[in-house]
Amino acid sequence: MSAPTVDPIEALRDRFQQAADAAFPGIALPPVAVVPSGNTQFGDYQCNSAMPFAKSLGKPPRQVAQELAAKINLDGLAEPLTDKSIAGPGFINLTLKNSAIDARLGQLNTPALGIVPDPAAPITVVDLCGVNLAKQMHIGHLRSSVIGDTLARVLERLIGKDKVVRQNHVGDWGLPIAMVTAHLMDLEAAGKVDLGTITLDQLDGIYKESKKLCDTCDDQIAYVKAWGSGTKVLAELEAANEAPAAALAHAKATLVRLQSGDKQVKRVWQRIYDVTMAACLATCARLNAIVLPEHSAGESFYEEKLAPLVEDLVKRGIAIESDGALIVRLDEFGIPEPVIIRKRDGGFIYATTDLAGVHYRTGALKAKRVVYCVDARQSLHFKQVFAASKKAGLCPPDALLEHAPFGTILGEDGRPFKSRSGDSVKLNEVIDEAEQSALAEVVSRYPDLPPDQQLTIARTVAVAAIRYTDLATERIKDYVFSFQRMVKAEGDTGPYLLYAYARTKGLAAKAEAQGLKASTFAVEHPSEKALALLLLRYPEAVNAVGTTLEPSRLCAHLYNIANAYSKFYNDCPVLTATEPTRSARLALSDLTARVLGDGLTLLGMPLLDRM
Ligand code: ARG
Repeated sequence: MSAPTVDPIEALRDRFQQAADAAFPGIALPPVAVVPSGNTQFGDYQCNSAMPFAKSLGKPPRQVAQELAAKINLDGLAEPLTDKSIAGPGFINLTLKNSAIDARLGQLNTPALGIVPDPAAPITVVDLCGVNLAKQMHIGHLRSSVIGDTLARVLERLIGKDKVVRQNHVGDWGLPIAMVTAHLMDLEAAGKVDLGTITLDQLDGIYKESKKLCDTCDDQIAYVKAWGSGTKVLAELEAANEAPAAALAHAKATLVRLQSGDKQVKRVWQRIYDVTMAACLATCARLNAIVLPEHSAGESFYEEKLAPLVEDLVKRGIAIESDGALIVRLDEFGIPEPVIIRKRDGGFIYATTDLAGVHYRTGALKAKRVVYCVDARQSLHFKQVFAASKKAGLCPPDALLEHAPFGTILGEDGRPFKSRSGDSVKLNEVIDEAEQSALAEVVSRYPDLPPDQQLTIARTVAVAAIRYTDLATERIKDYVFSFQRMVKAEGDTGPYLLYAYARTKGLAAKAEAQGLKASTFAVEHPSEKALALLLLRYPEAVNAVGTTLEPSRLCAHLYNIANAYSKFYNDCPVLTATEPTRSARLALSDLTARVLGDGLTLLGMPLLDRM
């Protein structure tokens, strides 16, 4: 960040750095560590550097702490150090001056809330959503859409809106898509479906049927042949294989027609595409995830780029033949598994489109950072793609290619979340059910509200609940999906944060009705101070999401703010306080409203001013 930071920790760190430079000139020391105090009785923060410094300096840590204390200039920032400030083996306890807190709150209190886009930050692509044609969005796409959207929102805030490009790498090409296209064309020719009115639900069914139709027993035949298991069983298998083999051949022929731009095939494919994307993007919209038609650049988008790319890799000796397929070896990157970029049958695969994607994103789109928000189970795939891209020079050597992997959503039985029939759960049904649970909760809380208002609140609460649940756990961890728990207004939940925000807005509305105005900040009470210190660390929490790609960092910080606000609300009467306390507290409450509102918006949670 280029603007002066409001973060007290950073300011203290700077002061300690200067003290270290003055006390121990010319000696290389580890970076200074200042952290929130473990026990607020002793101070707000503590510097823990005396111990590691002591090791480097060969001196007792308490002496090092004293030497640092002797050199440090805390003017205007923290209370002067006393003998009692140094504790235990050499912790230095620090208490901020209230005037310093007030001044920093004033700096934070701007439209940008202390977050200033870095003009030097590189263009960044966020790969998100990644749905597949002819399939309903299922629970697996919740995370790629919600986490991806959140990371994009945060990065937009940190580096500027025009520097973040969302890319939806839709699975819209290849043999499976050709299978469903071929089957759909047959059904249409037989007058069994109407392409004009077909729904994604129907396509989903046709997709499954087409897979079954093409389910050959080639593997078993090869096995029987290899083992010479007898002519009878072979004949049986070959008879059973006739229909699926024909269907598969038909699908392959359809793929060739699709690839060569055959108008009839293309028309049906396009219809599948349009129906799928309309439904999926509507589901994203329900989740408040910004995934729009212009973000789609799926496998088909790279179709024409694949053959020349692969040819070039062959020419340069980067892709080599192995067993009829083309591969890129990655041993020099410590990856023993080579990546396959062309199958034995000449077809390109998933990895090939991703290589073309790296080239396009770092070339045409000029991105220097590409963030892939995709399931952890694809970790090896991305390792391979990134290594192969570097090896082949498909991106600049300093391009940052990052996989932001996420864990699996589990049902309440602790197993991957499945529907009763064992299929993956459809995302629309998940949202419906969350709305039902939220409605029950809202009705019990506000029995007297008109039903339409109850419903509006329930819908907002449901989205907040789903998104927050998905974002609040460390990304890589699996988590259990519990409708009842996530819609609760107590505990570390989305609705709890919505209520906290609504409370700040409610107080502001009452103050306004009484003609009260907020004044400058004047922190006094410990609960005011605790809240203020968290607010001052808000920009840092947002920054941390940008570097770690870990939205849970922001969730945890907002949750702490909501708790601190609740304590402030109970401990420090606002409207009934006398001046000047009242207007100073109102200022703190208003700033909390803005920080919470900003943070929740970065998490993509819709806000309610009143609940
Ligand atoms: N369609 C893929 C799937 O469902 C996800 C795409 C992720 N993005 C990527 N660039 N590979 O697994």
